[in-house]
Amino acid sequence: MRIVLLMALLAPNTVSAQTVEGSWTTASPTRERQQVLVRVVRQDCGSCHGMRLTGGLGPPLTPRALNERPLEALVSTTLYGRPGTPMPAWNTLLSTADALWIAQQLQAGFPDEAAR
Ligand code: HEC
Repeated sequence: MRIVLLMALLAPNTVSAQTVEGSWTTASPTRERQQVLVRVVRQDCGSCHGMRLTGGLGPPLTPRALNERPLEALVSTTLYGRPGTPMPAWNTLLSTADALWIAQQLQAGFPDEAAR
């Protein structure tokens, strides 16, 4: 009885987490799109976060700075910005899959334009 109740309480969260994971995984950007995203991050994001993404007007977007941050938070900040700060929303230019890919690359060490 107690187990059933616990499952009922946990189920909604579990299901939505799986749905988000699932749609993120299947919608991974194509290689061509990834090249566009590398350019966007290096040039547009770099204008505030620094050419090496080590910080400027915006904070560093290096693996060291972002490794411990939940991916969801990075994706959400990228798509919707931070109201009241210079961090703009990018959801008119970037899809959720784009933002997820960017967040994953930032945590891993963002590729150079030449490397793509
Ligand atoms: C106009 C300047 C500007 C541009 C362009 C910009 N950002 Fe930001 N960004 C900021 C600022 C300022 C903050 C810090 C906001 C705050 O004080 O909470 C920030 C915060 C962030 C954070 C949160 C970092 C953390 O440690 O929580 C992420 C992730 C981020 N930006 C990603 C991006 C990405 C990806 C792009 C390009 C698609 C981008 N930003 C473009 C100014 C900018």
